[in-house]
Amino acid sequence: MSLKTAFESQPERRYVMFGGKGGLGKTTLSATSAFWLASHGKRVLLFSVDPQASLSDIFQRDIFGKGPVKIMDNLWAQEVDADRRIREYQEEIRKKILDMYGFDRVPEEIDNYISAASAEPAMEESAIFDAVVDIIVQGDYDYYIYDLVPLGHALYYLSMAKVYDEWINKITRLREEMRQYDQVAATMRRDETVQEDQILTELTYIKDRINASSRILTDSNRTAFFFVVVPEEMIILDTRKAATLFAKFDVPISGYVVNRVLPPELRSPTAPPYLQNRIAMQERYLADIKTAFGAQVLAYVPEMERDVTGLGMIERLARRLFAHEGEARP
Ligand SMILES: Nc1ncnc2c1ncn2[C@@H]1O[C@H](COP(=O)(O)OP(=O)(O)OP(=O)(O)O)[C@@H](O)[C@H]1O
Ligand SMILES: [Mg+2]
Repeated sequence: MSLKTAFESQPERRYVMFGGKGGLGKTTLSATSAFWLASHGKRVLLFSVDPQASLSDIFQRDIFGKGPVKIMDNLWAQEVDADRRIREYQEEIRKKILDMYGFDRVPEEIDNYISAASAEPAMEESAIFDAVVDIIVQGDYDYYIYDLVPLGHALYYLSMAKVYDEWINKITRLREEMRQYDQVAATMRRDETVQEDQILTELTYIKDRINASSRILTDSNRTAFFFVVVPEEMIILDTRKAATLFAKFDVPISGYVVNRVLPPELRSPTAPPYLQNRIAMQERYLADIKTAFGAQVLAYVPEMERDVTGLGMIERLARRLFAHEGEARP
């Protein structure tokens, strides 16, 4: 199996992610896959919630916070401005409280509570997750490629159903606290049962959305989740650990891509000893990778002579990433 056949044999897997530790090439491989699919006539949205604006970097275009930006035929890239999403989210919650209780403005105590609650990581993650859900449920594209942030964080997103649960519990607690203000709001308050229902409807709506999207993300028939690894000892160890964790969250791994493999043409008895050493070391780790991940390795990607930015470099990398089986081996 190669990455090419992995895509071709399961076209119904329209959600694609590359996971892995920081700086291993997730953004590079996501953009390269997006490019390859788009060149084969698929409509692709590549998106990210990374505040580092790494898609802007790789495409050498400022696309941050601008919605889907067309990069070339069939390829759109989108960088969500997460901070803005968080602010909008807070505002939305304020509005809902105003509506429910008929306040003209949010009383200071409640406002303080909302501010405190929104400083919670769970709140931030929920806002970001909400943005991701918005993107993937629209359904206008053939492929959605989610350029993930580094591993630890990605795990967080993928376990979002659990995080969201926490947040929902928090809202429920907020609702309890709100009862104390019922006295104050008595004159403007609507019928008690109507209020209860509104809140419950809201919570159910949120829960349904989470369940729908976490079903998508953990469904190996609809989602391809590839792991990026490089031939280095610590990375291999960490990747094995991560794979175990992902299994715990029921996130199936669809295969591994080995990035930054030194090109074989550097191998020569006249090469400087430094280079010969590096190559020998990589060969050892490539053997370890084979032992650890074996047939799950779908591609080997060479270390290029420079950073991968711009469509020209991406195209060159795509030829290697989507090489036919056999051609792809180092
Ligand atoms: N095969 C390669 N050859 C040369 N440079 C590469 C290769 N793969 C990645 N790079 C470079 O390595 C750097 C990190 O890659 P990239 O941004 O894709 O990693 P990442 O996993 O997305 O990082 P982060 O975890 O910060 O999101 C970039 O400058 C990229 O151009
Ligand atoms: Mg990245």
